[in-house]
Amino acid sequence: MADDRYSIHVLQRPFPEDFIAFYPYIKPEVLDKHIAWRSWLSRVVFDGVPGVRDLMVAARDDESGEWVGVVWLSVSETSPELAHFGWFHVDPRCQSLGVGARIVDTCLETLGAAGVQMIMLPTQIENERAIGMYFRRGWRITIAHPEGDVWMVREPDGLYERTFTPDPARPITASEPRPSDFVALDYLLARPSAPIRLLPLGLVGSRRFVSFVHDWQGARHAVARQDERPMAIAVDVEGDGGAKLDVFGIDRRAMVVALREVAEGAAKPWAEVGASDRLRRAVFEELGFRMTGTRCETLARAQMELCRYEL
Ligand SMILES: CC(C)(COP(=O)(O)OP(=O)(O)OC[C@H]1O[C@@H](n2cnc3c(N)ncnc32)[C@H](O)[C@@H]1OP(=O)(O)O)[C@@H](O)C(=O)NCCC(=O)NCCS
Repeated sequence: MADDRYSIHVLQRPFPEDFIAFYPYIKPEVLDKHIAWRSWLSRVVFDGVPGVRDLMVAARDDESGEWVGVVWLSVSETSPELAHFGWFHVDPRCQSLGVGARIVDTCLETLGAAGVQMIMLPTQIENERAIGMYFRRGWRITIAHPEGDVWMVREPDGLYERTFTPDPARPITASEPRPSDFVALDYLLARPSAPIRLLPLGLVGSRRFVSFVHDWQGARHAVARQDERPMAIAVDVEGDGGAKLDVFGIDRRAMVVALREVAEGAAKPWAEVGASDRLRRAVFEELGFRMTGTRCETLARAQMELCRYEL
């Protein structure tokens, strides 16, 4: 019986040495296509991330003593009801024996007992087995990228509104991003209505997820927060043609606060915003940017009109 042979363990740093030797996603031969993410995962495994609790839920073959499966979970101090779930792997020799299902069920129990209400994960649309396993446990697809990446969220109704409605009476302030912001920012990005479609790929995160940004030195970022809750992020990437800016966030007010912070220090700032993206255009216009031209480009397999803004 698979249940007798394989045991499930919830591991936290410092991770056991034999587990680190097994952990697939820091090995170049496993993660060659996503080499940049490997440095970030190595940080999770070896150093830990300040303000963030990373757990590995892992399966061990008790006959051979070998680790055979793992998934990563991440919870931040500032958004303890939200969690990331990712990098799921079961050794091909013991797939389809129920090991993966037991790992997921242990994640749900562990996170539920810790007060987590929302768990988000990225996967691929062609991975029907994984999507079915998540769907049967309450995850729903929130966003599908034309190239096949999908994002799934498991949450009670109304959680987003209850936890992420800014209080109009309290200030929103901007400062540098902290690792503890990222789980919440990723949750905002995973919303179907997030005004993010035109974020240039690679500018903020791995298409959607800010957590996986590996090169924070490659750009200047500002996060707008109410109390400790992140509500918007703006970015300034310096290039030959000036400082290219972008912003996304929960609403116009938070986006203005984050964008103002990066725009103030930027030399020759400019931006490109989708013509139909009224919210983001209004944010740039509120800060004094003027539209200086338009062009068309195919983005996410759709023909889009982009408006160029300059200060
Ligand atoms: C996806 C993966 C982690 C699942 O682990 P596993 O140990 O093989 O999964 P299980 O045997 O527990 O099966 C999980 C569920 O899929 C079902 N299933 C198993 N084999 C299946 C198959 N070939 N086709 C469809 N469903 C299948 C099981 O019935 C089970 O259903 P349940 O939700 O009712 O419990 C594992 O197959 C794997 O590592 N795949 C490669 C990497 C990957 O795809 N990772 C996920 C990225 S998000």
